[in-house]
Amino acid sequence: MKTLNHLLSPITINGMTVPNRAVMPPMGTNLGIDNHVSEANLAYMKHMAGSGAGLIITEITCVHPSGLSGPSHIGMWDDKFLPGLTKWAGVIHDQGVKAIAQLHHTGRESAYMLQKGEAVGPSAIPSKVFRVPPREMSLELIHEVIAAFGQAALRARKAGFDGVEIHGAHGYLVAQFLSALSNQRQDEYGGNTLQQRTRFMIEVLESVRKNVGNDYPVLIRISTDEYIQDGYQVEDLLPILPELVKAGADCIHASIGTHGSPGGITSAAAEYESGFNLPSIAKIKKAVNIPVIGVGRFTDPNLADEVIAKGQADLVAFGRQQLADPDYLKKAAQGRTEDIRECIACNQGCIERLMLEPGTSIRCAINPRTGQELSYPRGPASKKKTVWIIGAGPAGLTAAYEAKRLGHSVRLFEKAEKPGGNLYYASLAPNKQVYGNWMNWLIAQVAKCGVEIKTNTCVTPDMLKQNTPDAVILATGGEKIVPKIPGMDLPHVCDAWQILDGTEASGKNVAVIGGGLIGMETADFLRDKGASITLVEMLPRSPVGRMAAHGYFLHQRLRDGQCRFCFDTRLEAIENGAIRVISQEKTETLSPVDQVVIAVGMKPRDELKKALVDQVIPHVIVGDARQVRRIIEATEEGARAAWEL
Ligand SMILES: Cc1cc2nc3c(=O)[nH]c(=O)nc-3n(C[C@H](O)[C@H](O)[C@H](O)COP(=O)(O)O)c2cc1C
Ligand code: SF4
Repeated sequence: MKTLNHLLSPITINGMTVPNRAVMPPMGTNLGIDNHVSEANLAYMKHMAGSGAGLIITEITCVHPSGLSGPSHIGMWDDKFLPGLTKWAGVIHDQGVKAIAQLHHTGRESAYMLQKGEAVGPSAIPSKVFRVPPREMSLELIHEVIAAFGQAALRARKAGFDGVEIHGAHGYLVAQFLSALSNQRQDEYGGNTLQQRTRFMIEVLESVRKNVGNDYPVLIRISTDEYIQDGYQVEDLLPILPELVKAGADCIHASIGTHGSPGGITSAAAEYESGFNLPSIAKIKKAVNIPVIGVGRFTDPNLADEVIAKGQADLVAFGRQQLADPDYLKKAAQGRTEDIRECIACNQGCIERLMLEPGTSIRCAINPRTGQELSYPRGPASKKKTVWIIGAGPAGLTAAYEAKRLGHSVRLFEKAEKPGGNLYYASLAPNKQVYGNWMNWLIAQVAKCGVEIKTNTCVTPDMLKQNTPDAVILATGGEKIVPKIPGMDLPHVCDAWQILDGTEASGKNVAVIGGGLIGMETADFLRDKGASITLVEMLPRSPVGRMAAHGYFLHQRLRDGQCRFCFDTRLEAIENGAIRVISQEKTETLSPVDQVVIAVGMKPRDELKKALVDQVIPHVIVGDARQVRRIIEATEEGARAAWEL
């Protein structure tokens, strides 16, 4: 067993002694109400603070009303917020953890302020994300916002926070001043060099320092690289670092990326390896003599321990890993690394949910407790029931784990010879091995909690009649859609699942029929094997959006791999060596095609529903058996069905 001596050793930042080097970085939740800390914020934070991480940095708090991102953005600009802020710091302290408040102004990246016509920025340049220009800040407003950062820092101190972090990363106001892409001012806050454009950041630091005094930790978060065309890079930043220290920074939190960085590198997809930004973080560390926090897809405490041992960073932040398993550090310290639920970098419940699904709040696709602390039952259930769970894919496995945890008597059945359902196939696509890790973790945890998975068992209406369970959770997943097309019986036709699991070897010139997620991932798998691909999709464009990181990379790899996309195109017939399609009412023959892979999707498999209704057995249908969707819907419905038994 590794000792984690470095990760678990304390560190002092300007008088604040942090019990260990694991940090929960700032993560927005959208749980705030009317800019106040809500009960949900407190419950979530209590959950997170029990994790064992020594330092928690809160989500963004707004220093000035001109920088709001919406009503759920926690306010730090007025004393009226103090009662909630004080409780917030309190729940962190209750667990013996140090609490830092992140100070923030959204600048031009606020859809909320842009809609009201009130967004401001260094210059009236639209962001790549929203494409609407903000109002250029007057010198008067600049001075007001700089002062507001200082007053907000003092307010955080009054609320009991142990320190503050200035958000100077990810393309928000402070970073907007730093970047030539958003700051083209001709006055003293602009300039052609990064050094000149650092003035705003420096004055914010000085204002904060002046307000909180010398004996209070002030952290600054920066992106090591904007990671966007013509953006700054780490080498450009190195000369300004001593100035940040001189202006009052006690610690640098080295992140990456900006709004509009391709593929959302800030909360990086599974395409990036753990700690991918370490080369840049180490350069920052080398350039300063204050502590540096490194962040970027860390999931393994052992790797973090090595990073600290090698002197690449002084502390390591685990963002999404914390959401996926807030107990990761405790488990690692106890030598139970196999019990850690590893974040799969899917972003379905966290960053992409907040960014792409307005009105939602934080969740985790693989941890149903995160963000649902107020409705999460601690158990045991008041009435123990005998529950049958039919189907051992993500929804069924999650339901079984949760039902058992609550003390129910659980029987879990799976028709196939192994559990996992369609997740097994999904995990075989490129860059999705982490999904397989999670599947294996879930299967192992279900077994560990004492639920036997009865594989090769097809539950029949008769079995239900003979055993009459108190409740059934139907999690039978989805089944393949097989289109009725002439030529489907030809020997060179197979389906996506046969390609992914290796039952069928990949061809040379392959037509993939269906441009949804299964089709795109199977095409990606085939591209990886060297096939030349034609992708046929009936819709005018792929249903796999490019805004989500995984979709972005899928599109990019297929485009780079010279995949031929045929949208608005319907398969009419499969022939030897070719396919016949209809596109814009014209029939066309595409060749050469030596393999046709059907990936037109799945439909719910819910054939037991009738028997359950007829036998009046209380039941809930969850996951793909209800409607074919993503992991997050499967786990959420599985968990909720168990919670509501
Ligand atoms: C849901 C979510 C919300 C985030 N909100 C913030 C934020 O409020 N402030 C900030 O500086 N970074 C924010 N980030 C970025 C994280 O702090 C972190 O840098 C990023 O997720 C990379 O770390 P990870 O790979 O360990 O998740 C957010 C990330 C996520 C996933
Ligand atoms: S939703 Fe996905 S990326 Fe976000 S924390 Fe959970 S597993 Fe990680």
